[in-house]
Amino acid sequence: MTESSSLSAAERNAWQVVSSLDEIAASRRVATVLFGEPITVAREDGAAVARRADGAAMPTIERYGYVWASVGAPEGDLFPLPEFAEPDRRNLHGATIGVRVSAPRAIENFLDMGHFPFVHTGILGEEPHTEVKDYDVEVSAERDEVLATGCLFYQPMAAASAKAGIEVEYVYRVPHPFCSVLYKSSPAAPGRQDVIALFLQPVGEEQVRAHMLLSLIDDVSSDADLRNFQQTIFAQDKPILENQVPKRLPLDPRAETPIRADKSAIAYRRWLSAKGVGYGVIPARG
Ligand SMILES: [Fe+2]
Repeated sequence: MTESSSLSAAERNAWQVVSSLDEIAASRRVATVLFGEPITVAREDGAAVARRADGAAMPTIERYGYVWASVGAPEGDLFPLPEFAEPDRRNLHGATIGVRVSAPRAIENFLDMGHFPFVHTGILGEEPHTEVKDYDVEVSAERDEVLATGCLFYQPMAAASAKAGIEVEYVYRVPHPFCSVLYKSSPAAPGRQDVIALFLQPVGEEQVRAHMLLSLIDDVSSDADLRNFQQTIFAQDKPILENQVPKRLPLDPRAETPIRADKSAIAYRRWLSAKGVGYGVIPARG
């Protein structure tokens, strides 16, 4: 029995990211793993196609610079990301990084501002600016996503384009159990927001490929500068992620003592429970 036969409908019938378009352009045929099963991704007659080990084609789409496939029968399109189509944005594949952690744990870390001064010191935070101020969290029934707004944090170097420290406003969306989209004040364009999306490919229950999309307003920095900035941040997160105990995200509200700053993480856990997501989590009992 393959691992994906025991998936819940929430995972089986969803789109999952399996490759960047950059990666299939560079290696022609990408051999990778989704839900513990080996798959391949390649361009066939112009369109990206993911195939299982037995050669069967899976439902496959290309969105936002990535290939998404499903081991089941997806009913709708992937979540919307309208900023990707704005003509003055730089859309860039930031990196694909293998991490030994569950996808939900990686999302939880992405949502957490409390670690900025200690893990991303001098970049996304610094002492004494350690307070996570209160912010709003809602679960939008209409869009079926977790939304955290009004998250304010002082950052010494908020982006590659930053010239000085600024108080940055964050908005987080979690529009997919294993994907999160972050909007943050753009140092290069006051009043607008840079977009950084984390698309997690569930390789196994405790292993992901983390794909990072950058959709930025920045006419100055080189592609390499933009990638280096994001890869530096992610390299700081990787050992933290891999040392999480347990590696799967406990969904029982009593499992880990919540503090106020964890409001978005608590909403995320509840949303996963309500959706019946079982992959990479420790389900709540009873
Ligand atoms: Fe981080």
